[in-house]
Parts: sequence; structure tokens; C-alpha cells
Amino acid sequence: MNNVDNGNFRTVASSQVVLKELMIPTYANFGGKVHGGVILSLMDKIAYTAAASHSRSYCVTASVDSVNFVNSVNVGELVTLMASVNYVGRSSMEVGIKVYSEDFKKGINKHTNTSYFTMVAVDEDTRKSIPVPGLILESEEEVRRFISGKFRKQYKVDYNAKFKARRDNLNMENEKSALSQDNCVIND
Ligand SMILES: CC(C)(COP(=O)(O)OP(=O)(O)OC[C@H]1O[C@@H](n2cnc3c(N)ncnc32)[C@H](O)[C@@H]1OP(=O)(O)O)[C@@H](O)C(=O)NCCC(=O)NCCS
Repeated sequence: MNNVDNGNFRTVASSQVVLKELMIPTYANFGGKVHGGVILSLMDKIAYTAAASHSRSYCVTASVDSVNFVNSVNVGELVTLMASVNYVGRSSMEVGIKVYSEDFKKGINKHTNTSYFTMVAVDEDTRKSIPVPGLILESEEEVRRFISGKFRKQYKVDYNAKFKARRDNLNMENEKSALSQDNCVIND
């Protein structure tokens, strides 16, 4: 069952998006490679498209998971982004994005990065979060991605709570002594 609505549930395929963009000279940094920010901007654009398409509503970017660029992108290459809604909660949607870049001349296709954007559907007037349709999972892979998205959401909540507890209870004297092993000098 592809691209079929089913009441309050929608298939993953119905909101999948592919975006291709040629890397032009104005995207380059001083080193001649494409700015990471250009790729991030394209990722935000495709995340919005997938989330808005799934929810059929206005969405905002709530968070972006760590983005590790494993290969640089050169001017003249064709960048392809593929986005899929992996997981949905009540109003949030995790969009998984894979980015590749293709060097036409050399016939090389490189994986640039994979990342996860959390988008939230909001009411345009009140700016409050609103419910989104559930996902119809049609393959073992889609079920695996949904479960992974659910884990990532839970891990973020746990991490934030642990980090806040540690930061709010710092023993500054102990922590400062431990900095002797780090790449800094204290000049206070
Ligand atoms: C995202 C936003 C709507 C959440 O508001 P909120 O008051 O926390 O809303 P809620 O408590 O109703 O939570 C809504 C959902 O967002 C999720 N959420 C909130 N903050 C989040 C964050 N930082 N990361 C991931 N998910 C988040 C919640 O888990 C919840 O998910 P669920 O409904 O699927 O369970 C609000 O923080 C916002 O508008 N932020 C600004 C977004 C923006 O402008 N982005 C572009 C920046 S240029």
C-alpha cells in the first residue's frame, strides 16, 4: 500500500522526499569546498517538506541531531538529499535525512552525512503544537527506523536530564583541578 491515506495514519512513502541541488561557486568557502551551512540549510528545507507533507500542516524545526560530515562536498558536484519520516509522537516527527554528493566527471558518489531533524506541527495562529497522523509501517526496515526514532527521543530526554543535574551540581574546586589535564589555562 503506497501513497495511500488510511484515516489518521499515513504511509512513510507518502511523505518521502528527494531533493537535488548543483553546488555552484557562490556556495564555496575560502578553501574551495561547499560551506557546511549550505548543506544544513538544504537539510532543513527537506525536513520541513517531509514533515509538512506528512502532517499537512505548518511545522517548525524543534531540534537537529549531531551532524557529522564524513566527506567534503566540492563545487560542481550534485548533492542529493533523501528524507523520510521515521517516527512520530503526538505532534513531533523525526525526519531522517541522508545526503550524498556526486562527482559527474569521476563518476564517484560519496556519502556526506546522515542526520535526524525533529519537526513539530504547530497551529499557525496560536503557535501551539497540534496532533499529527500516525505512521503506517510497511516493512521491517520502517519498523526498525520507528523504534530507533523512539529510542533517540527517549535518550535525548534522559541525556538532557542527566546533563542538567550534573551542571547544576558542579563542585567547582574539583572540576577546576581536573582541568589541569585539559587544553586550557585558567587566568582568573
Ligand atoms: C518546538 C516547539 C513548538 C515546542 O513547544 P513546546 O511548548 O515544548 O510544545 P509541547 O510541550 O506541546 O511539545 C510538542 C512536541 O515537541 C517536542 N519537543 C519540544 N522541544 C523539543 C526539542 N528541543 N527537541 C525535540 N523535540 C522537542 C515534544 O517532545 C513534543 O513531542 P510529542 O508531541 O510528539 O510528544 C517550540 O519550542 C517552538 O516553537 N520552538 C521554536 C521553533 C522554531 O522557531 N524553529 C526554527 C528556528 S529558526
